[in-house]
Amino acid sequence: GLPPRVRIHEVGARDGLQNEKATVPTEVKAEFVHRLAEAGLTTIEATSFVHPKWVPQLADAEQLFPRVRDLEGVDLPVLVPNARGLDRALALGARRVAVFASATESFAKANLNRTVDEALAMFEPVVARAKESEAPDDLVHVRGYLSMCFGDPWEGPVPVPQVVRVCKALLDLGCDELSLGDTIGVATPGHVETLLRALNDEGVPTNLLAVHFHDTYGQALANTLAALRHGVSTVDASAGGLGGCPYAKSATGNLATEDLVWMLRGLGIETGVDLGRLTATSVWMAGQLGRPSPSRTVRALSHQ
Ligand code: HMG
Ligand code: MG
Repeated sequence: GLPPRVRIHEVGARDGLQNEKATVPTEVKAEFVHRLAEAGLTTIEATSFVHPKWVPQLADAEQLFPRVRDLEGVDLPVLVPNARGLDRALALGARRVAVFASATESFAKANLNRTVDEALAMFEPVVARAKESEAPDDLVHVRGYLSMCFGDPWEGPVPVPQVVRVCKALLDLGCDELSLGDTIGVATPGHVETLLRALNDEGVPTNLLAVHFHDTYGQALANTLAALRHGVSTVDASAGGLGGCPYAKSATGNLATEDLVWMLRGLGIETGVDLGRLTATSVWMAGQLGRPSPSRTVRALSHQ
């Protein structure tokens, strides 16, 4: 069966904007996050505390985060690759962070300047410190992203056991949630099912899993449905289908949140999202970026 409710993890402000060539002003980003919250999204990934030279577009994290952190009822996860990133995030009051691993050596090197295992070693003290507090209410929630779960632009198809190994390593570090990334959008539903089944067989609880699909080959919705049928109920998506990864050639936008909401609504699955408001937000953002949204649903609903 399908889950009655899906939690959408909105990544437009982070995954969506990290790859933009033109600098998006901090005020525009802040307004974007506020509008996403007004559209009913409750998990909005805000930015990354990474090296500013590696991702110049998010170099304003210190300026942006204070402008959004007081949003009522909204979780605002941020990416942190290492202890330095965690320090920066905690100093501003972040309560949710995400580390980001790779299932392949090529992408680990390109994205983090580390081998897969060196990257895991880099995350270890980050997760440990997030979990250090004695008071359960004080614990920082840690998401572990895993990129290249299906295919890699340098290495081709990625063997399932290789993915499972790093998933388990992230959970062993203490991550509260795991997001399975199809960074370059090459997955198809059968492959998704195979991976999810392999994770089950290895004892990874499905309720800890989220899926993160990019729509390069138009498969993101089909892949999402396969994951929902398997019991996954957290889905990453990006308003208007913004996105890409600066360190993965051929990565295009994420699954568009509007496309996702349209499908879920049709299935009678609750999301809490107001599709009209969300579409208006993506049309506004497209105007800021100077090009139309690639989302079919945004186009259909806005006659863009
Ligand atoms: P490095 O060059 O190996 O850094 O990069 P280092 O550890 O050797 O440190 C060098 C200098 O950087 C030091 O300064 C550090 O202090 C500084 P120095 O002492 O030389 O003056 N530094 C920092 N400054 C600010 N904030 C920091 C930080 N860390 C070190 N956090 C590093 C290693 C991890 C830093 C770098 O590779 C990096 O920042 N990578 C980030 C790449 C990234 O953000 N990629 C996009 C996100 S992943 C993604 O999009 C995929 C996803 O969507 C899922 C999917 O689709 O698959 C999540
Ligand atoms: Mg991504």
